[in-house]
Amino acid sequence: MPPSPVVAAHGLCMDYGAGELRSRVLHDLDLRVAAGEFVVILGRSGSGKSTLLHLLGAMERATAGSLTVGDTDLVALDEEARARFRRRSVGFVFQAYNLLPTLNAQENLLLPLQLNGIPDDGRSARLLERLGLQGKATRYADELSGGEQQRVAVARALVHDPLLVLADEPTGNLDEEAAGSVLDLFVELVRESGRTLIMATHSTETCARADRVLRLDHGHLVDA
Ligand SMILES: Nc1ncnc2c1ncn2[C@@H]1O[C@H](COP(=O)(O)OP(=O)(O)OP(=O)(O)O)[C@@H](O)[C@H]1O
Ligand SMILES: [Mg+2]
Repeated sequence: MPPSPVVAAHGLCMDYGAGELRSRVLHDLDLRVAAGEFVVILGRSGSGKSTLLHLLGAMERATAGSLTVGDTDLVALDEEARARFRRRSVGFVFQAYNLLPTLNAQENLLLPLQLNGIPDDGRSARLLERLGLQGKATRYADELSGGEQQRVAVARALVHDPLLVLADEPTGNLDEEAAGSVLDLFVELVRESGRTLIMATHSTETCARADRVLRLDHGHLVDA
């Protein structure tokens, strides 16, 4: 028996809007992602990449179909249970970094640990160091470059050992050099720890490192 997948979606659909404005954004998606796999999702603007990541990360609930992440049936969860699942099992890296401005770099990492009752056994400092941020632990977001902020965001997404790491165009706001170094470190850390990563991106460099590349075309999932 092959090991059970981290993500199993079947007939997944997502509609936005109501009444006459209702429109289907994701059509009947089937997706299985194995533990430790790195899957890239490509697609034109508006094809549904972010929407799919939001469903996988339990930020939104699918309109129809089944979606299991680990042992959890995400479609069955209410809002509160989805929030718990997100907090514990998902690490999300957004295009716009989204660090909390009132917390310094290290405190941004401590928050997911505190929310999950996980003691900081030195891992926040180790992760910051691995990401080349030693000496910057007490800096606030507005005292860090874009590349540095995104490295903090990467560390924050990994620090609580999530089952699933999701990244939505994580290097989209960075210049080529900063994007390359953030991506190198991100992929290296994910590979080292055997975590499962699903990333929406336009970058062809990213595709070369992925185990599998999928394409969304007007909300339909196709092999790239
Ligand atoms: N909250 C929402 N309400 C209504 N429509 C939405 C909502 N969020 C997304 N959409 C629509 O769903 C479609 C897919 O959007 P989505 O953000 O998933 O695309 P994307 O592939 O991530 O695009 P981009 O590359 O520009 O980030 C778009 O037509 C968008 O307008
Ligand atoms: Mg998007």
